[in-house]
Amino acid sequence: MQEILVLYYSHRGSVRALAEQIALGIHQVPGMAARVRTVPKVSTVCEAVESDVPGDGPPYVELADLQECVGLAIGSPTRFGNMAAPMKYFLDGLAGAWVNGTLAGKPACVFTSTASLHGGQESTLLSMMLPLLHHGMMLVGIPYSEPGLNATRSGGTPYGASHVAGADGSAALSEDERMLAVALGRRLALAAKRLAVPA
Ligand SMILES: Cc1cc2nc3c(=O)[nH]c(=O)nc-3n(C[C@H](O)[C@H](O)[C@H](O)COP(=O)(O)O)c2cc1C
Repeated sequence: MQEILVLYYSHRGSVRALAEQIALGIHQVPGMAARVRTVPKVSTVCEAVESDVPGDGPPYVELADLQECVGLAIGSPTRFGNMAAPMKYFLDGLAGAWVNGTLAGKPACVFTSTASLHGGQESTLLSMMLPLLHHGMMLVGIPYSEPGLNATRSGGTPYGASHVAGADGSAALSEDERMLAVALGRRLALAAKRLAVPA
């Protein structure tokens, strides 16, 4: 089995729901599996240190996950049209991986969730792509051959999977949002399978 790292930050669960669908899409490709990981919160109190083990959900990501996986999906809630600080903080700590070319040549995709329909999904998705390009990753989006892209009345973009969670964050994924997240995971896994050097 070759693995793809699905790495996300989610405060209230919407990005996590997208991550689960992307993982499903990855598992649809024979020989490919998802390794789901999260990043810790960051605090304005510098002395505060998170436990090494999150209270619930997948484990926190380690550098070995980046080395061992043949592709990467990263997801974050939209915060003022950009990714949330915990994901940015994690990415800013990857200078060593950048120097070593750990991610170079591997495929990647991005996903996000917002409260409102025009609340900055595409700017967030694009902002998450920038560091991945610096690492030499090969970005995968969603083509319009996916019917949900034209049909959706909520999330789902050519730049990556997305969800509109509503003002209280409680909306479930629409069927189009769900199908597009699965399609993105499947497409990432297919790209990784074609690009990966057999072990
Ligand atoms: C500080 C902050 C900034 C936010 N900025 C935006 C925004 O720019 N646009 C938007 O539509 N939603 C914004 N939201 C709402 C979140 O993006 C939305 O609730 C998202 O679905 C949360 O994902 P999660 O459930 O995975 O934590 C913001 C929320 C917070 C706490």
